[in-house]
Amino acid sequence: MNTDSKIIVAIDGYSSTGKSTMAKWLASEVGYRYIDSGAMYRAVTLYALRGGIIGKDKALDMIRLVKELPSINIDFRRDDSGQLTILNGENVEREIRMMEVSSHVSIIAAVPEVRHRLVAMQRALGDEGGIVMDGRDIGTTVFPAASLKIFVTSSPEVRADRRYKELIEKGEKVTYEDVLANVIERDRIDETRKESPLRKADDALLIDNSFMTRDEQNSWLLTRFNEALQS
Ligand code: DC
Repeated sequence: MNTDSKIIVAIDGYSSTGKSTMAKWLASEVGYRYIDSGAMYRAVTLYALRGGIIGKDKALDMIRLVKELPSINIDFRRDDSGQLTILNGENVEREIRMMEVSSHVSIIAAVPEVRHRLVAMQRALGDEGGIVMDGRDIGTTVFPAASLKIFVTSSPEVRADRRYKELIEKGEKVTYEDVLANVIERDRIDETRKESPLRKADDALLIDNSFMTRDEQNSWLLTRFNEALQS
């Protein structure tokens, strides 16, 4: 048993399952660094929307995107409110969570060149262990040898309800039906894309949190973490 070494924890799953809440909580509980890989796909999407690389009809200018990829720099900073996503030096944390980005991010996340660049950045961030990273392909592609892999799911209706409440709280004008449609559409694109589709790694532990309280989830997660440390 070696409890001194720091492991990599990979948390994957469907959108709006509360993966990032779980991952953030675990990271702060055990003193690890939290990395939100979805924020990186969102930041590239924001860049593409701002620069007209994604057109009004959702058409993607692939040639420009691939050409400009090397000049898209993504970083993370911390402040009192938590983790901030920095796109080319600008704090875009709030903007990348808006519906406009959510409804275009799957198109960007399906581009192999984008995935290759972001996966390389994610691997570099996790080089020394001691991280909790959440996303869709962390246990399957980014860190296939991670010591602890979790796959989170919950029903589309429960997820849409959570997301709807979050967006309304932020002052966005959305309907529950639109949010549910967005959740279902994102699942479809994430599961069927050719490059790193969303799927549970064979050795990932499954958790369905549709009817679990935050405390139940956290205690489940900490137990799994301690087991992984000791194995
Ligand atoms: O976790 P999230 O909803 O913020 O992720 C935003 C999008 O990015 C989501 O549609 C799936 C995609 N994504 C991905 O393809 N691979 C990851 N590792 C993380 C997110």
